[in-house]
Amino acid sequence: MSELTHLLEKTHHNHHELIQLLSVSSEEETAQILDKALLKKASTVGRKVYLRGLIELTNHCSKNCYYCGIRAANKNVTRYTLTEQEVLDCADFAWKQGFGSLVIQSGELSGTAFTSQIESLLHKIHQHTNNELTITLSCGEQSLDTYKRWFKAGAERYLLRIETTNKDLYYQIHPNDTHHAWENRIEALQNLRLAGYQVGTGVMIGLPGQSISDLAGDIEFFRSMDVDMVGMGPYIEHAETPMYEKAHMLWPAAERFRMGLLMIAVLRLNMPWINMAASTALETLDPLGRQKGILAGANVVMPNLTPVTNRKNYQLYNNKPNLDKDAALSTISLNKVLDAIGETICFNEPGNSQHFTRRKQSE
Ligand code: 5AD
Ligand code: SF4
Repeated sequence: MSELTHLLEKTHHNHHELIQLLSVSSEEETAQILDKALLKKASTVGRKVYLRGLIELTNHCSKNCYYCGIRAANKNVTRYTLTEQEVLDCADFAWKQGFGSLVIQSGELSGTAFTSQIESLLHKIHQHTNNELTITLSCGEQSLDTYKRWFKAGAERYLLRIETTNKDLYYQIHPNDTHHAWENRIEALQNLRLAGYQVGTGVMIGLPGQSISDLAGDIEFFRSMDVDMVGMGPYIEHAETPMYEKAHMLWPAAERFRMGLLMIAVLRLNMPWINMAASTALETLDPLGRQKGILAGANVVMPNLTPVTNRKNYQLYNNKPNLDKDAALSTISLNKVLDAIGETICFNEPGNSQHFTRRKQSE
């Protein structure tokens, strides 16, 4: 048995083994890992794909992450906030299409007006959709109190990426100040769990200065935090950000893409029951990125429902795809594509993280 075949039989990889898996470079060995992850997915969560309609509520943000196109200091961005009616229209669309679930994403804002706005939207969406949609929030670091309030108002899942678990690297990609403190982010993830959410986190892959050992550490972090969901994808440069200066240090886009798939596959082998998204960033680097992500072990796709006129103003990175694509049409084509590769889209199902269900049962 080859060393790789032997490694792939394991259900838990230590730091050294994770590095070995993430260091394969040939097409054959990469394919062997992805194929094993697909088998693992099939035998655990199944070859099922859940849809979450993504609503980019507002591109206002108080933070200045060095990599992100909508950072507060980028004055070239036209700022918007969707009206309540626009959000309800998106929710209505998702409901009628049978998506089962919504993600509300925003820049990171704080204060009572924002807290109440989200709370009120949660109530209204549930009311309008007969409580048939599960709602995920992705609205940044907030106090435990705020997380509890939103949970009570009907948000069940929360996404907060740690971005990188290497603290030194974290401060190379964020300002080193109290508003961007790494410890706050860790605390926020712990608070989300305390508040009762299905907790999701994730990282960017292929950041300037990031090593394979860092990525192995990211997988160990997801495991040690016992997270329920992961969304991760390749880093993509944005010309109007400070990190663009380091673009010359990046791995080629194809390599960042391959590493994105490998990370999904290796994580699926180690955390078989979590929900994992095939990120938009994957699709940005490869038009077939979404289905390739699904075949590497992901089981969630997030079609963008943001009104087309606002989408161009929510550019976290350059060349974000589907700026003008109608969500209804993209669902039909996605359905066909996934069917052709042997996956089934689950309509009208919440698609809870089975990792979460299992941990609740054992508590
Ligand atoms: N490239 C890839 N992903 C990015 N994000 C922000 N900027 C970029 C970029 N330039 C991701 C971050 C954030 C999520 C909303 O988008 O991981 O958590
Ligand atoms: Fe704001 Fe999130 Fe962009 Fe950071 S990554 S600047 S918190 S929107």
